[in-house]
Amino acid sequence: MKHVPQLLYIVGTHFGDEGKGKIVDTLASQYDYAVRFSGGNNAGHTLYHQGKKIVLHLIPSAIFHPNTTCVIAQGVVLDPYGLQEEIKQVSTLMPGFDRRLAISGNCALLFPLHRDLDSMRETSLGNKKIGTTGKGIGPAYEDISARRAIRLYDLLSPNLPDKLHTLAHHASVIMQQPFDVIYSKLCCDAEFAKQTLSPFIVDTNTLLRDALEKNRPILFEGAQGIMLDLYAGSWPYVTSSSSTFAGLLTGTQIVPSPSNPVSVLGVCKAYTTRVGGGPFPTEIEGPIQDYLVEKGSEFGSTTGRKRRCGWLDLPMLRHAVRQGTVTSLCITKLDVFDTFDTISVCTMYDCNGRLLRYPPDNMNELEFCKPIFTMLPGWKQSTNHITDKNKIPTEMQSFISLIEQEVGVSIAIISVGTNRENIVWCRGEDLNLHEFPH
Ligand code: IMP
Repeated sequence: MKHVPQLLYIVGTHFGDEGKGKIVDTLASQYDYAVRFSGGNNAGHTLYHQGKKIVLHLIPSAIFHPNTTCVIAQGVVLDPYGLQEEIKQVSTLMPGFDRRLAISGNCALLFPLHRDLDSMRETSLGNKKIGTTGKGIGPAYEDISARRAIRLYDLLSPNLPDKLHTLAHHASVIMQQPFDVIYSKLCCDAEFAKQTLSPFIVDTNTLLRDALEKNRPILFEGAQGIMLDLYAGSWPYVTSSSSTFAGLLTGTQIVPSPSNPVSVLGVCKAYTTRVGGGPFPTEIEGPIQDYLVEKGSEFGSTTGRKRRCGWLDLPMLRHAVRQGTVTSLCITKLDVFDTFDTISVCTMYDCNGRLLRYPPDNMNELEFCKPIFTMLPGWKQSTNHITDKNKIPTEMQSFISLIEQEVGVSIAIISVGTNRENIVWCRGEDLNLHEFPH
């Protein structure tokens, strides 16, 4: 049993895929609620339950903990078909779990037409494409901003046909397809969503506010990472929702206060990966990249795409700490470096002669940033078995200390393998996370 903060937000520090799912799974048994609040089924969280690998996209990773209620809050865009598949998959492993799934009636729906729009946009961008997951995320959030999205509550409204009419009209203009075809397909999709998702609709704002008032422990599961955040990320190669604390506020409508401070655990891989397009200053090519892909299983859990790999990027980590109000860090996949003679870490950028400790404010300049590396000796030994912080090899300790010194945040957890037990609690039983607001 760890001493965990009452409110904990777990956020990815780079481009997603940092291993948040495993950390959530490790801590979730101590939380009454686990909340997803942004993104959609572009996210993929890989877990191992009873020896079986399972990838969750919308259902919070805490679902396999029988005392945790899993909440999908209103900032998430919901693909009813994708969610139905996931519900079926989880049901076979954990019958009756559905009583612990609460979905906000204010979630906007993501329909197949959003996926069609996503792929149309990407095709039209040619070699400047974002490299989206193709799940329709951008178009679904566009519809929210334009106030024509269909929310779950709308499925129960007598005005649903009018709302579907507005959405279908817009789509038919953009896609240059007949209105009637789009409208009738949309009516079927809405009916499917109503049949499958109505039983899960809950006023999650009240649920979470009541939980806060009763000082119940709540875990907030971030999706993607700070560098993919719509505002703080590597614009325009970002997703369409906010992975920072700002996303937590809008996505849950919960406001932290001195009586409800939130601790933020930033999850960071020992190296950096990115899926899709966009600048990547520390990207590696050749055999080291191939090794990282293979040893680290660096394939997108949503699309299966091979992830681009690079050395750990500390300017981005500093940015994540600031933008994400990160109060403590977890470093994952350290074991992937077990056989390396030397390990590089980017501590600064050279951007056309300017030395930068953070990514440039003007993200258009990120592509001109050249990494400045510090080289560290590798530990050259297997580390999967280590669970005691005093048994961490000296060279690994130097790697950890370098990150702490450069970034100014201490490391609470390191992960040295895929299983729950491959973990080292660097501060013993007490996570002792600092809190926000400070
Ligand atoms: P979208 O979110 O599908 O629109 O994709 C926008 C960008 O975010 C693309 O570069 C995707 O590869 C990336 N992306 C979205 N979700 C994830 C994720 O969960 N892990 C890694 N990359 C992601």
